[in-house]
Amino acid sequence: MKKLYLIGNMKMNMNCAVLEPYFDKIVEIAKNTSNIVGVCVPSVYINMAKYMLDGSKVLFGAQNMYYEDKGAFTGEISSEMLNDFGCDLVIVGHSERRSIFKETDEEINLKVKKALESGITPILCFGESLDQRNKNMAFTIVENQIMKALNDIKSEDIARIIFAYEPVWAIGTGVSATSKQAEEMISFAKRLLKDNYNLSNVIVLYGGSLKSSNAQEILSEKSIDGGLIGGACLDINEFEKIINTKVIE
Ligand code: 13P
Repeated sequence: MKKLYLIGNMKMNMNCAVLEPYFDKIVEIAKNTSNIVGVCVPSVYINMAKYMLDGSKVLFGAQNMYYEDKGAFTGEISSEMLNDFGCDLVIVGHSERRSIFKETDEEINLKVKKALESGITPILCFGESLDQRNKNMAFTIVENQIMKALNDIKSEDIARIIFAYEPVWAIGTGVSATSKQAEEMISFAKRLLKDNYNLSNVIVLYGGSLKSSNAQEILSEKSIDGGLIGGACLDINEFEKIINTKVIE
């Protein structure tokens, strides 16, 4: 069986009352699968995740962090703070952060570097918009996003990043990329990492309207190592079905 990475991105959802039984349940689900399970929670719930998930098989982390160590950066959270609570993961460069919060490739690069330096696994997101895809620019955009995010980072460190191809047009729309479209872009990204950094075992996930009804088909593609799941991770029963996806290697 292929060991899939199935990581939930809760975005700005959930509350304590819902999370308590959710965390209890996901600990049990993770015990019974050989897939790798993770959740990126809203930052105010990291404390709760630490107390309920630490020591379990469930990886947890944040959806964003700042690249400076400390200081007058109102509203921001540092890698040291994430480490203080045992975070394994941090999402960097999500398209919602790029588009709504105007994060630049340069900032994303600094965040990836800081996460790596701090021993937290960055989940580096990339992906084109519908307009860019329609203009046949998808591959150029993706190449540009990846190369800029990795600027000045050594191969051995790049190997520790989890990449996630999330086409903007598939996020939260209910319409995922087809398995062929996802495979095509993820194999392209893997070739890019091979050609530029001589890396052949990098982990690349797919994200964008992934759900139990399409997980099997998409995750069966050769180059796809798992999924970054938004909406469908909010319902633990639906997420459980995705986590239990089995794919022959
Ligand atoms: P949806 O699964 O809700 O489309 O979101 C995907 C995503 O953005 C995960 O980071």
